[in-house]
Amino acid sequence: MAGRLAGRVAVVTGGGGGIGGAAAKLFAEEGAAVAVLDVAAAAAKETVDAIQQAGGTAIAVTADITDARAVDAVFDRIERELGSVGVLYNNAGVNSAGSVVDAEEDDWDRCMAVNVKGTFLCARAAARQMVRSGKGSIVNQGSVAALVGVANFAAYCASKGAVVALTRSMSVDLAPKGVRVNAICPGTVYTPLMEPMLTARGGGDLEKGLAMTTAKYPIGRLGTPAEIANVALFLSSDEAAFLTGSVVAADGGMTSQ
Ligand SMILES: NC(=O)c1ccc[n+]([C@@H]2O[C@H](COP(=O)([O-])OP(=O)(O)OC[C@H]3O[C@@H](n4cnc5c(N)ncnc54)[C@H](O)[C@@H]3O)[C@@H](O)[C@H]2O)c1
Repeated sequence: MAGRLAGRVAVVTGGGGGIGGAAAKLFAEEGAAVAVLDVAAAAAKETVDAIQQAGGTAIAVTADITDARAVDAVFDRIERELGSVGVLYNNAGVNSAGSVVDAEEDDWDRCMAVNVKGTFLCARAAARQMVRSGKGSIVNQGSVAALVGVANFAAYCASKGAVVALTRSMSVDLAPKGVRVNAICPGTVYTPLMEPMLTARGGGDLEKGLAMTTAKYPIGRLGTPAEIANVALFLSSDEAAFLTGSVVAADGGMTSQ
């Protein structure tokens, strides 16, 4: 299959739904053999089924990205079954709740474990394969919450700030080895992850929360999973050959105000 990722093996974490699901399907349409990695096995299989029905190549791999041994084992399996990983979209993440006054310690730990440690563990496993083959692209999922303060989101903001710092650090280490590392900072995209947060923002009213959030976006609407997936595709492809250490805000102008 021809395409911008033809001949590449791509891993999409959190590929069972939301932005990751859209990216996994797009990467497969662009010719990649895709490993859909998710802690939710049924969701990963659903994405894989859709890719295969459309004529693409994909496997589902299940792991909790906070577990180093599980992550290393699935990346070994991906290398055995599909070949050396050339593209990683490090997308899986979780939200947090609360300001610094009322955030719970468990929630903080979970958010840091998935968003920061999980991103690091997957990047490490992928980078080891990429360094051996002398080429590769890693795209880490940040958020506008890394760039501006978002109310009642203390742990999440801190975790995504760490992802941006990790991206810059990795880009410096890996550029001489032929591996590019960039981050996307999406604005709000309507996905299952966001529903509880939007409902809370609206005082229990999802529609009100949606309207309040949309008002923060100069473009006058929220983003779509496909729009973020397109940025991930560009950064993963050779079209972005001179981009490394870049932090791309895909946010409808939200952080430009
Ligand atoms: N939706 C937004 O508005 C928005 C905005 C900015 C950034 N983001 C970021 O984009 C990414 C995807 O968000 P989404 O809205 O598509 O979320 P989502 O909840 O729809 O999808 C996240 C996926 O990650 C998986 N996942 C969660 N924890 C995992 C773990 N420990 N191990 C493996 N997989 C795990 C889930 O099972 C799920 O399939 C996240 O990193 C999120 O922080 C989202």
